[in-house]
Amino acid sequence: MTPFLVRSAICAKGQVCLLGDKSIAHRAVILSAISAGKTVIENFPANEDCVSTINAFRRLGVKIISSSGRAGKDSRVITVFGVGLYGLKKTNSPIFIGESGTTLRVILGVLAGQSFRAKLVAGPALSKRPMLRVTSPLRLMGAKITARRTNYGKTPEEYPPIIISGGNLNAISYKMPVSSAQVKSAILLAGLYAKGVTRVREPLKTRDHTERMLRLFKVNIKSKRGEIIIKGQNELISPELVVIPGDISSASFFIVLAAILLDSHIVIKNVGLNPLRAGILKILIRMNANIKVSSRKIQVSGSEPVGDIIVRYSKLKGAVLKAKEVPSVIDELPILMVAACFSKGRTILQGAGELRVKETDRIRSMTENLTKMGANIKVVKSSGSENIVIEGTGVLHGAKVKSFGDHRTAMSMIIAGLSSQGNTQIEGINCINKSFPNFLSILEKIVRY
Ligand code: S3P
Repeated sequence: MTPFLVRSAICAKGQVCLLGDKSIAHRAVILSAISAGKTVIENFPANEDCVSTINAFRRLGVKIISSSGRAGKDSRVITVFGVGLYGLKKTNSPIFIGESGTTLRVILGVLAGQSFRAKLVAGPALSKRPMLRVTSPLRLMGAKITARRTNYGKTPEEYPPIIISGGNLNAISYKMPVSSAQVKSAILLAGLYAKGVTRVREPLKTRDHTERMLRLFKVNIKSKRGEIIIKGQNELISPELVVIPGDISSASFFIVLAAILLDSHIVIKNVGLNPLRAGILKILIRMNANIKVSSRKIQVSGSEPVGDIIVRYSKLKGAVLKAKEVPSVIDELPILMVAACFSKGRTILQGAGELRVKETDRIRSMTENLTKMGANIKVVKSSGSENIVIEGTGVLHGAKVKSFGDHRTAMSMIIAGLSSQGNTQIEGINCINKSFPNFLSILEKIVRY
C-alpha cells in the first residue's frame, strides 16, 4: 500500500469536539449488558475496539441497537437492553474479539461468573499479548481457564485463544503484580458474581473508570487505604442514560501538536479529565506547555470529570516523568516522546517497560521511527523496568517511517511529521481506526500549511 504523506505544517488553529472515551465506552456497554433495564449510551465512539465489545455482547444474547449520534457518523447512540447478572446466553461457536485487549481482558471477568463455557478468539496482534496477568486471579476465584501457553526460559505466559467456564466463584484478596486497569476491572467484575467480599490492591493506582461506572450502576464498591472492595452477588441497576466524555487519549495528539507548532491555538471541548487518566496535561505543563482547562464539571450521567482544554504554542523544555505517574499517561507515552523531541533538553520517562506489551512494542516502534527523523533516544534498564531518555533538540526532519500496525504509533508519527522539516512518509496508517476513525478529518480542519 502507498505510504501516507505528511507535509510540514505552519500551525494548528480551531475548535475540536471528540468522540467518546474508548475506555469508558467499553465499560458502559459491559455494565449496561449485565444490569437490569435499558441503558442509552450517548457519544459512543464507533471505533473498531468498542465495536468488538458490542459484538461480543450481541453474541452473548444481549440486544444492542446503534443509531446515529450528533457528532458525525462515528459518534453513535447505543441502546443496550440489559439481561441482568445471570441472563447472558451460551454461544455455540467461539466469540471473536478482534484486536481489543480491553474487551478480551475485561469480558473474562464477566464470563468467570457464568455457568457456561465460552471460547474467545483474538486477531493476530492481540493473540501475542500476555493474558496470564488476568487468567491467574480469575483461576484463584474458581474459574476454569485454558489458554495457549508458552514457557520461554523460566517465565510461563498465556495467550488467546482462551476457553473459560465459570460459576461458583469465591471472593479473593488480591495484590496485583502489574498495575493494569484491565486486570483490576476483570477481578472487580468477577467479584460481582463471587461469594463474599473481593479486595484488590494495585502497585500503582490505575484509571478508575470501572469503579466510577459501577457506582453509577448502584453497586456497593469502596476504595479504602489503597484497596478496592466490592461486595459480591449484587445486581446492577441501570442509570438509564450514560454520556461518554471526549477521549483524553485522542485529545493528546492535538494537544501536543498545538504545544509544539509555532503560533498554534486550539480548544478541545468536553474532554474527560479523570485525574488517573489526565497525566498528559500535568507532564506537558511541567515541560512548560501553555495549557488551560475551563468549564470543569462532573458529568452527572457519566460520573466522570470533564472540561474544555485550551492549548497555545510555547517553547517546551525537558522534564522527568516518575514511574508512579506512568499509569496516568500509559497510552500517551508515544506522543509524549514526540513532545520530548521538540523540547529543549533532557526528558526522562521512567518505568515505561509496560509499553513493550501494548498493541506493538511501543518503545521499539517509537524509538526506531523518531531516530530515523533525527531524534536522540536511549533506553536504559532500571529497577525491573525501563527508562526512556530523550535529548530534545527542538527539531526533527522528515523520514520514511511505519506504524508497526499500532494506532497510537501511527498518530504520533503523523503529529511528528507535521511538526518536522520536509516530508514524512508513514506506512500502514489504517490501524488508526482501532481507536480514532475521524482523526484525519479533524486534523484537516485545524492544520494550516
Ligand atoms: C485500558 C487500560 C490500559 C490501557 C489500555 C486501556 C483500559 O491497559 O493501556 O489502552 O481501558 O482499562 P492496561 O490495563 O494493560 O494497563
